[in-house]
Amino acid sequence: FPALYHLITRERLTGRCVVLGVARSQQSDADFRALARDALAASGLSAEKIDNRWCDECLYFQSIGKSSRDDFEQLARRITDLETAHGLPGNRVFYLALGPEAFPPTITGLAQAGLNHSPGWTRLVVEKPFGHDLASARELNTLVHRSFQESQVYRIDHYLGKETVQNLLAFRFANAIVEPLWNRDRVESVEITVAEELGVEQRAGYYDHSGALRDMVQNHLTQLLTLTAMEVPAAFEADAIRDEKVKVLRSVLPLRQENVVWGQYGCGTVNGKQAPAYREEPGVAPDSQTDTFVALRVEVANWRWQGVPFYLRTGKRLPRRVSQIAINFRCPPTTFFQPFHSCAASSNALVITLQPDEGFDLHFEVKAPSQPPSLQTHKLHFRYAEVFAPLPEAYETLLGDVMTGDQTLFVRDDEVEASWQLYSPLLAARGPVKPYPAGTWGPPEAEKSFLRGGAWRLR
Ligand code: BG6
Repeated sequence: FPALYHLITRERLTGRCVVLGVARSQQSDADFRALARDALAASGLSAEKIDNRWCDECLYFQSIGKSSRDDFEQLARRITDLETAHGLPGNRVFYLALGPEAFPPTITGLAQAGLNHSPGWTRLVVEKPFGHDLASARELNTLVHRSFQESQVYRIDHYLGKETVQNLLAFRFANAIVEPLWNRDRVESVEITVAEELGVEQRAGYYDHSGALRDMVQNHLTQLLTLTAMEVPAAFEADAIRDEKVKVLRSVLPLRQENVVWGQYGCGTVNGKQAPAYREEPGVAPDSQTDTFVALRVEVANWRWQGVPFYLRTGKRLPRRVSQIAINFRCPPTTFFQPFHSCAASSNALVITLQPDEGFDLHFEVKAPSQPPSLQTHKLHFRYAEVFAPLPEAYETLLGDVMTGDQTLFVRDDEVEASWQLYSPLLAARGPVKPYPAGTWGPPEAEKSFLRGGAWRLR
């Protein structure tokens, strides 16, 4: 709601764009508007500041009941009525944010009611999860393509809407000093961490069947991996960029179980507050083996990256919420300062913080003015907040792109399948979860030996 509100009011679309909420529950337009107001208030927008025209002229609700053919036909009539009442040309976005089991009947129901065609254009936004393994993702793609062309389909991954994630492309390809360093000759390893402080909250019904690998790695972390590792695209166009991302996925060596650590949080203290174990959370099975943490070592076996480990890690109930990509550069070839014991050099690193406190830090060594000589690590830093106004919400950016028909920040059919192709075999033969106390950085198995003797930069 906040993303829609900001987009519609900023683009002055009030009155020229209506939002029809659809769910199985029975609600009136007024109930739906009240829900929207609450969501805006929860996002920090005070009641006096809300443009009331938005609620009163833009928001409507229609129940889809039991999702029968009749229900979808009624939906189609309601859409046409609203378009007629508002004098709209019939450009439609269907935004599917559904439980996994509801995607197929909804897509079929829309098509049977003729809603895959309209007097204007029709676009289909599909939220995750897009399948739960390779076979189900393929099936879903086939089903979608029966009624919609790929050019109408927007598989959403909200990480791609984050300004800092998009900036990975600008940082890499608009700065000529970066590219010569961005390869196996200069890079020792890459670490990608998406850490959350939150637990499963009220989402066990979904999450306990999903787990961290499906919920976070197959989509968000994989997007970060491909944007970090990809080659320069032939053009700044949706397909040229997505082609390069797919090539990265095709270059990844089959993932091996010994290169993965699966974890599940026990009770512990997060940020000074006592947190229950995952298995004690509401709706979670007491013997659940669902992963709430995963760490993986990934090898991208192409000309640029052969031999450079990419370490991916994500988990719930970790010490703090932070998403970071660290590029660890190789150490100098000789230990020139060895005679001075205080001069053990750390490797240079570029640390890109995607959230919170968005920015970049370049870590380098400095001679401290002391006797005997010693080296200290310091940082050159850049922070978005020091230069730009608050960054737009990811969903606002993405919804705007759907309306203008730009697919660059959406996941293509072959991309989602290439990603599942990597992870499906791992899931099929998954090892047991290792416990970790809430408020720590995951199981000890994901530390030193996993990192071939190293340590995570973020710890
Ligand atoms: C969602 C996952 O896609 O991303 C959630 O389903 C997770 O489990 C969330 O909490 C994290 O998103 P963000 O933007 O807060 O990093």
